[in-house]
Amino acid sequence: LRDRQPIIAIDGPAGAGKSTVARQVAAELGLVYLDTGAMYRAITWLVIQKGIALDDECAIAELAHTCKIELTPSQDLKSPVRVWIDDVDVTQEIRTVEVTSKVSAIAAQTAVRQALVNQQQNWGKKGGLVAEGRDIGSHVFPDAEVKIFLTASVSERARRRQQDFKKQGQPEVSLEQLERDIAERDWKDSTRKVSPLQKAADAVELQTDGMNISEVAAQIINYYHQKLSQW
Ligand code: DC
Repeated sequence: LRDRQPIIAIDGPAGAGKSTVARQVAAELGLVYLDTGAMYRAITWLVIQKGIALDDECAIAELAHTCKIELTPSQDLKSPVRVWIDDVDVTQEIRTVEVTSKVSAIAAQTAVRQALVNQQQNWGKKGGLVAEGRDIGSHVFPDAEVKIFLTASVSERARRRQQDFKKQGQPEVSLEQLERDIAERDWKDSTRKVSPLQKAADAVELQTDGMNISEVAAQIINYYHQKLSQW
Protein backbone atom coordinates (compact mmCIF):
# COMPACT_ATOMS: atom_id res chain seq x y z
CA LEU A 1 0.00 0.00 0.00
CA ARG A 2 1.37 3.41 -0.91
CA ASP A 3 1.35 6.25 1.59
CA ARG A 4 0.37 8.89 -0.93
CA GLN A 5 -1.52 9.47 -4.18
CA PRO A 6 0.42 9.28 -7.46
CA ILE A 7 2.50 12.14 -8.80
CA ILE A 8 3.04 12.97 -12.46
CA ALA A 9 6.20 15.02 -13.12
CA ILE A 10 6.37 16.96 -16.38
CA ASP A 11 9.68 18.64 -17.21
CA GLY A 12 11.08 20.19 -20.34
CA PRO A 13 12.36 23.40 -21.92
CA ALA A 14 10.46 26.70 -22.26
CA GLY A 15 7.51 26.61 -24.62
CA ALA A 16 7.29 22.83 -25.03
CA GLY A 17 3.62 23.04 -24.00
CA LYS A 18 4.08 21.79 -20.46
CA SER A 19 1.53 24.10 -18.83
CA THR A 20 -1.35 23.43 -21.16
CA VAL A 21 -0.67 19.71 -21.25
CA ALA A 22 -0.20 19.45 -17.48
CA ARG A 23 -3.47 21.30 -16.88
CA GLN A 24 -5.37 19.05 -19.23
CA VAL A 25 -3.89 15.87 -17.74
CA ALA A 26 -4.69 17.09 -14.21
CA ALA A 27 -8.26 17.96 -15.16
CA GLU A 28 -8.88 14.61 -16.84
CA LEU A 29 -7.41 12.58 -13.99
CA GLY A 30 -8.85 14.72 -11.17
CA LEU A 31 -5.39 15.66 -9.91
CA VAL A 32 -4.15 19.08 -8.78
CA TYR A 33 -1.98 21.04 -11.19
CA LEU A 34 1.19 22.59 -9.77
CA ASP A 35 2.91 25.19 -11.96
CA THR A 36 6.36 25.61 -10.37
CA GLY A 37 7.52 28.10 -13.04
CA ALA A 38 4.82 30.47 -11.77
CA MET A 39 6.55 30.47 -8.38
CA TYR A 40 9.93 31.51 -9.86
CA ARG A 41 8.11 34.13 -11.89
CA ALA A 42 6.32 35.49 -8.81
CA ILE A 43 9.58 35.98 -6.93
CA THR A 44 11.09 37.65 -9.99
CA TRP A 45 8.14 40.04 -10.11
CA LEU A 46 8.65 40.90 -6.44
CA VAL A 47 12.39 41.48 -6.94
CA ILE A 48 11.65 43.92 -9.78
CA GLN A 49 8.86 45.55 -7.79
CA LYS A 50 11.16 46.18 -4.82
CA GLY A 51 13.95 47.49 -7.04
CA ILE A 52 16.40 44.80 -5.89
CA ALA A 53 19.33 44.14 -8.27
CA LEU A 54 19.15 40.71 -9.93
CA ASP A 55 22.61 39.83 -8.61
CA ASP A 56 21.93 40.86 -5.00
CA GLU A 57 21.72 37.23 -3.91
CA CYS A 58 21.53 38.07 -0.19
CA ALA A 59 18.51 40.33 -0.51
CA ILE A 60 16.84 37.88 -2.88
CA ALA A 61 17.52 34.93 -0.57
CA GLU A 62 15.92 36.85 2.28
CA LEU A 63 12.90 37.58 0.11
CA ALA A 64 12.58 33.97 -1.03
CA HIS A 65 12.52 32.73 2.55
CA THR A 66 10.07 35.28 3.86
CA CYS A 67 7.59 35.87 1.04
CA LYS A 68 4.28 34.05 0.88
CA ILE A 69 3.37 32.46 -2.44
CA GLU A 70 -0.09 31.07 -3.04
CA LEU A 71 -1.37 29.22 -6.09
CA THR A 72 -4.99 28.28 -6.52
CA PRO A 73 -5.08 24.58 -7.17
CA SER A 74 -6.82 24.38 -10.50
CA GLN A 75 -8.85 21.46 -11.72
CA ASP A 76 -10.62 23.60 -14.24
CA LEU A 77 -9.24 24.12 -17.73
CA LYS A 78 -10.90 27.46 -18.34
CA SER A 79 -9.96 29.51 -15.31
CA PRO A 80 -6.28 30.44 -15.11
CA VAL A 81 -4.18 29.30 -12.17
CA ARG A 82 -4.15 32.36 -9.96
CA VAL A 83 -0.91 33.39 -8.35
CA TRP A 84 -0.44 35.62 -5.30
CA ILE A 85 2.75 36.81 -3.71
CA ASP A 86 2.49 38.52 -0.33
CA ASP A 87 -1.25 38.82 -0.95
CA VAL A 88 -0.87 40.62 -4.28
CA ASP A 89 -2.56 38.93 -7.24
CA VAL A 90 0.20 38.73 -9.89
CA THR A 91 -1.50 36.26 -12.21
CA GLN A 92 -1.11 38.58 -15.23
CA GLU A 93 2.05 40.40 -14.22
CA ILE A 94 4.23 37.28 -14.06
CA ARG A 95 3.69 36.59 -17.79
CA THR A 96 5.15 39.86 -19.10
CA VAL A 97 8.23 40.00 -21.32
CA GLU A 98 10.14 41.76 -18.52
CA VAL A 99 9.55 39.00 -15.96
CA THR A 100 10.19 36.32 -18.59
CA SER A 101 13.54 37.86 -19.49
CA LYS A 102 14.70 38.09 -15.87
CA VAL A 103 13.39 34.88 -14.33
CA SER A 104 16.34 32.68 -15.39
CA ALA A 105 18.73 34.81 -13.33
CA ILE A 106 16.56 34.38 -10.25
CA ALA A 107 15.86 30.67 -10.80
CA ALA A 108 19.62 30.04 -10.92
CA GLN A 109 20.11 31.14 -7.29
CA THR A 110 20.59 28.34 -4.76
CA ALA A 111 18.68 29.97 -1.92
CA VAL A 112 15.70 30.72 -4.12
CA ARG A 113 15.57 27.11 -5.29
CA GLN A 114 15.88 25.76 -1.77
CA ALA A 115 12.98 27.86 -0.53
CA LEU A 116 10.70 27.01 -3.45
CA VAL A 117 11.56 23.31 -3.69
CA ASN A 118 10.87 23.00 0.01
CA GLN A 119 7.43 24.50 -0.45
CA GLN A 120 6.73 22.30 -3.49
CA GLN A 121 7.67 19.17 -1.56
CA ASN A 122 5.39 20.19 1.30
CA TRP A 123 2.48 20.69 -1.06
CA GLY A 124 3.24 17.32 -2.67
CA LYS A 125 3.38 15.26 0.51
CA LYS A 126 0.02 13.65 -0.09
CA GLY A 127 0.58 13.31 -3.83
CA GLY A 128 -2.36 13.56 -6.21
CA LEU A 129 -0.73 16.14 -8.42
CA VAL A 130 0.65 16.93 -11.82
CA ALA A 131 3.73 19.06 -11.21
CA GLU A 132 5.38 20.89 -14.06
CA GLY A 133 8.81 22.57 -14.25
CA ARG A 134 12.46 21.83 -15.01
CA ASP A 135 13.65 19.75 -12.07
CA ILE A 136 10.49 17.96 -10.92
CA GLY A 137 11.39 14.39 -11.91
CA SER A 138 15.09 14.81 -11.23
CA HIS A 139 14.98 16.72 -7.96
CA VAL A 140 11.65 17.84 -6.47
CA PHE A 141 9.79 14.52 -6.69
CA PRO A 142 12.42 11.92 -7.66
CA ASP A 143 9.98 9.15 -6.68
CA ALA A 144 7.16 10.40 -8.95
CA GLU A 145 5.29 7.48 -10.48
CA VAL A 146 5.22 9.02 -13.94
CA LYS A 147 7.98 11.21 -15.34
CA ILE A 148 7.61 12.90 -18.69
CA PHE A 149 10.19 15.01 -20.49
CA LEU A 150 8.38 17.17 -23.06
CA THR A 151 10.33 18.67 -25.92
CA ALA A 152 9.72 20.41 -29.25
CA SER A 153 12.00 22.15 -31.73
CA VAL A 154 12.89 25.82 -31.12
CA SER A 155 10.90 26.97 -34.17
CA GLU A 156 7.80 25.03 -33.10
CA ARG A 157 8.06 26.45 -29.59
CA ALA A 158 8.44 30.02 -30.92
CA ARG A 159 5.30 29.56 -33.03
CA ARG A 160 3.36 28.34 -29.99
CA ARG A 161 4.56 31.26 -27.83
CA GLN A 162 3.47 33.71 -30.52
CA GLN A 163 0.00 32.16 -30.51
CA ASP A 164 -0.13 32.41 -26.71
CA PHE A 165 0.76 36.11 -26.78
CA LYS A 166 -1.90 36.69 -29.41
CA LYS A 167 -4.55 34.95 -27.31
CA GLN A 168 -3.56 36.95 -24.23
CA GLY A 169 -3.84 40.17 -26.24
CA GLN A 170 -0.17 41.01 -25.63
CA PRO A 171 1.83 43.06 -28.18
CA GLU A 172 3.09 41.03 -31.12
CA VAL A 173 6.65 39.71 -30.92
CA SER A 174 8.43 38.48 -34.06
CA LEU A 175 9.20 34.77 -34.51
CA GLU A 176 12.93 35.55 -34.83
CA GLN A 177 12.88 37.40 -31.52
CA LEU A 178 10.99 34.55 -29.85
CA GLU A 179 13.39 31.94 -31.25
CA ARG A 180 16.35 33.92 -29.93
CA ASP A 181 14.71 34.29 -26.49
CA ILE A 182 13.82 30.61 -26.29
CA ALA A 183 17.28 29.45 -27.35
CA GLU A 184 18.86 31.80 -24.81
CA ARG A 185 16.58 30.62 -22.01
CA ASP A 186 17.25 26.96 -22.91
CA TRP A 187 20.93 27.64 -22.69
CA LYS A 188 20.67 29.44 -19.33
CA ASP A 189 18.31 26.86 -17.82
CA SER A 190 20.40 23.87 -18.88
CA THR A 191 23.88 25.21 -18.07
CA ARG A 192 23.20 26.71 -14.65
CA LYS A 193 25.01 25.15 -11.70
CA VAL A 194 22.04 24.39 -9.46
CA SER A 195 19.46 21.85 -10.69
CA PRO A 196 19.90 22.49 -14.41
CA LEU A 197 17.16 21.41 -16.78
CA GLN A 198 17.84 17.75 -17.42
CA LYS A 199 15.91 14.66 -18.32
CA ALA A 200 15.66 12.28 -15.35
CA ALA A 201 17.15 8.88 -16.17
CA ASP A 202 13.75 7.21 -15.79
CA ALA A 203 11.71 9.86 -17.62
CA VAL A 204 9.92 9.16 -20.88
CA GLU A 205 10.77 11.68 -23.59
CA LEU A 206 7.91 12.99 -25.73
CA GLN A 207 8.84 15.03 -28.80
CA THR A 208 5.69 17.02 -29.59
CA ASP A 209 6.33 18.77 -32.94
CA GLY A 210 3.16 18.46 -35.00
CA MET A 211 1.10 17.05 -32.14
CA ASN A 212 -1.79 18.93 -30.59
CA ILE A 213 -2.43 19.29 -26.85
CA SER A 214 -5.06 16.56 -26.71
CA GLU A 215 -2.79 14.05 -28.43
CA VAL A 216 0.05 14.77 -26.04
CA ALA A 217 -2.26 14.63 -23.00
CA ALA A 218 -3.78 11.35 -24.21
CA GLN A 219 -0.32 9.76 -24.48
CA ILE A 220 0.58 10.81 -20.95
CA ILE A 221 -2.73 9.57 -19.54
CA ASN A 222 -2.24 6.28 -21.34
CA TYR A 223 1.20 5.90 -19.89
CA TYR A 224 -0.12 6.81 -16.43
CA HIS A 225 -2.76 4.04 -16.59
CA GLN A 226 -0.13 1.59 -17.80
CA LYS A 227 2.17 2.43 -14.90
CA LEU A 228 -0.63 2.30 -12.31
CA SER A 229 -1.78 -1.11 -13.51
CA GLN A 230 1.71 -2.49 -12.83
CA TRP A 231 1.43 -1.92 -9.08
O1 DC B 1 7.92 27.28 -17.16
P1 DC B 1 8.14 28.78 -17.05
O2 DC B 1 8.52 29.44 -18.34
O3 DC B 1 7.00 29.49 -16.40
O4 DC B 1 9.40 28.93 -16.07
C1 DC B 1 9.92 30.18 -15.73
C2 DC B 1 11.40 30.07 -15.41
O5 DC B 1 11.59 29.40 -14.17
C3 DC B 1 12.26 29.35 -16.44
O6 DC B 1 13.27 30.22 -16.90
C4 DC B 1 12.89 28.21 -15.72
C5 DC B 1 12.59 28.41 -14.27
N1 DC B 1 12.09 27.19 -13.63
C6 DC B 1 13.00 26.44 -12.93
O7 DC B 1 14.18 26.75 -12.92
N2 DC B 1 12.58 25.32 -12.26
C7 DC B 1 11.30 24.96 -12.29
N3 DC B 1 10.91 23.87 -11.62
C8 DC B 1 10.35 25.72 -13.01
C9 DC B 1 10.80 26.84 -13.69
